[in-house]
Amino acid sequence: RVLAGRPRDLAGRRVVISAGGTREAIDPVRFIGNRSSGRQGYALARTAAARGAEVTLVAANVGLPDPAGATVVPVESALDLRAAVLAAAESADVVVMAAAVADFRPADPRDSKIKKVPGEPEPIRLAENPDVLAELCERRRRGAGPAPGVIAGFAAETDDVLANGRAKLARKGCDLLVVNQVGAGLAFGTPDNAAVVLVAGGDPVEIPRGPKEELADTVWDLVAARLRETAP
Ligand code: CTP
Ligand code: CA
Repeated sequence: RVLAGRPRDLAGRRVVISAGGTREAIDPVRFIGNRSSGRQGYALARTAAARGAEVTLVAANVGLPDPAGATVVPVESALDLRAAVLAAAESADVVVMAAAVADFRPADPRDSKIKKVPGEPEPIRLAENPDVLAELCERRRRGAGPAPGVIAGFAAETDDVLANGRAKLARKGCDLLVVNQVGAGLAFGTPDNAAVVLVAGGDPVEIPRGPKEELADTVWDLVAARLRETAP
């Protein structure tokens, strides 16, 4: 589909998308990171804007040009990303967590560069990061304050893709979970993506290998349908 040929079915909807991969500081020059390019999140932002949504894109370390029609909020770490997503989610109809959020961060990042010294290197102690997606869903479940009508996550799985995905959807409590099969040159940093979308209380939707924009459009089809059901 060309951008112009899309339905305007997200007109008037506020959408928050997280994209990219967080970096967790070890010291001022080093970090723990991951291989997420941000391409899928950016495709989601572009297509949502083309379908009429007001888009806030929380971008963690993405080296791509800003998508047309999106407000970009740059972040670095998981804690930064959490603050930006939770703030934007206050007034959002939809949150899609496409970012690869580091599960752990160095527990005590150094203020100055760690120097090489002879002998056994010091281990890096890790602390667990908050789970932003689970937190959003938990807030909505508690019913305290405004909450997005639709909350979606992404998961990259290597083995037992469907079973792992199902368990994750239930554990997080989100509405949609886009499950990618990764490994052997799939998904990370490539323009194409194949996936299955798990739907809470519904049948899974398979998305054949194709451009990330096509996957994004299928996600918005499902989001738009769910918005019509839950928050007309
Ligand atoms: N996520 C999040 N906060 C985290 C970790 C993950 O919001 N601290 C979100 C991701 O953005 C993604 C979804 O949760 O949308 C699934 O991420 P994933 O890493 O697959 O889930 P985890 O619960 O961290 O499980 P795993 O042990 O497989 O990494
Ligand atoms: Ca994880």
